[in-house]
Amino acid sequence: MTNYNTMAAQLKALTQGVPHEVANLANASALLWQTLKDINWAGFYKMEKGILVLGPFQGKPACIEIPVGKGVCGTAVAEDKTQLVYNVHDFPGHIACDCASNSEIVVPIHVNGEIWGVLDIDSPLIGRFTEEDQAGLEKFVKVLEQVL
Ligand code: SME
Repeated sequence: MTNYNTMAAQLKALTQGVPHEVANLANASALLWQTLKDINWAGFYKMEKGILVLGPFQGKPACIEIPVGKGVCGTAVAEDKTQLVYNVHDFPGHIACDCASNSEIVVPIHVNGEIWGVLDIDSPLIGRFTEEDQAGLEKFVKVLEQVL
C-alpha cells in the first residue's frame, strides 16, 4: 500500500514557495512515477479555452487535446468527479493513449472554485486503483491546488 501521507508531504516540500506551474507539475508527475507501483502513465491535462490540453507527465507520448465529456478525463471534468475505472475496456469512450493501459484513475483539480484540469494515472493492471488510492490521490491534488 502506498504511503500517501509521505507522498503528500514530499509534494509539499517540492512545491512550497515555487511560483512556476510547469516546474511544479513536472515534479509532481515525477514523484507519482517514482512512488506508485504498476503504473504506465502519470500526468496532467489542463483546461485551456474549454478543452483539456496535455501537460507535464511521465510515460509514453499521449493525446494532446481531450474535449470535455470525452474519455475518462473529459468525463471527470463534465461530472466534476473522480473517475475510478476498474477496466478501461469497459468504459464507454475511453481514449487509449497507451495500449498497455487496463485501469485508470482521473482526479479533477480545482483552482479558485473552478476546474483547472485533471490528474490522470494509468496502470497495466486491471483494478490497480482502490478507494484508498482515490482518497490518497485526492489528498495529493489538494496539496497541488495550493500552488497552482
Ligand atoms: N485514457 C484517457 C486519455 C489520456 S491517456 O490515458 C494519458 C481518457 O480516456 O481520457
